[in-house]
Amino acid sequence: MSLDSRELRFALGNFPTGVTVITSVTDSGELLGATANSFSSVSLDPALVLFSLDRGAFSLDAYQKAGVFAVNILSLDQQELSSRFARALGDKWEGIEYETWETGSPIFPGTLATFDCRVWNTYDGGDHVIFVGEVLQMSRDANAAPLIFFRGQYGALAPTH
Ligand SMILES: Cc1cc2nc3c(=O)[nH]c(=O)nc-3n(C[C@H](O)[C@H](O)[C@H](O)COP(=O)(O)O)c2cc1C
Repeated sequence: MSLDSRELRFALGNFPTGVTVITSVTDSGELLGATANSFSSVSLDPALVLFSLDRGAFSLDAYQKAGVFAVNILSLDQQELSSRFARALGDKWEGIEYETWETGSPIFPGTLATFDCRVWNTYDGGDHVIFVGEVLQMSRDANAAPLIFFRGQYGALAPTH
């Protein structure tokens, strides 16, 4: 590899993003959740969004088999959820409040926006798998402040005026 992977990571970290927790549920009812800032909008018609999941992620196979996911876009006061779902081991779901919509994927209260999706397709993304989902249902909060991730740290939006 000609690029310095540490440098690549730092350079990519200069792109400020929001933070999501991608959730899902398996056929046997096991709940899945992983923090992801690789979320992006893709298409308006059909309504498509994407995220990419590390091939090394513990729950990759389960997400692929589930065929559904929900994108929970975290608000500023939900940093704790981000930390909890960025850990690979332990019971991520103990004490977590959620509801379910059409796909059965867990939906957190108090998010900035939520998208309940059926997997449209998955694509090879090198050491990640790209999941594209068709949005079936959504919600948004027009007033909540976003949780921001930038240069490896959490932050808040600074007003420009
Ligand atoms: C702010 C933030 C963003 C992250 N974004 C991603 C991402 O887009 N894709 C990914 O695969 N992992 C991402 N991670 C790491 C996963 O959340 C972490 O590897 C998690 O343990 C995966 O869950 P699993 O191994 O239990 O499946 C991110 C972590 C943080 C803190």
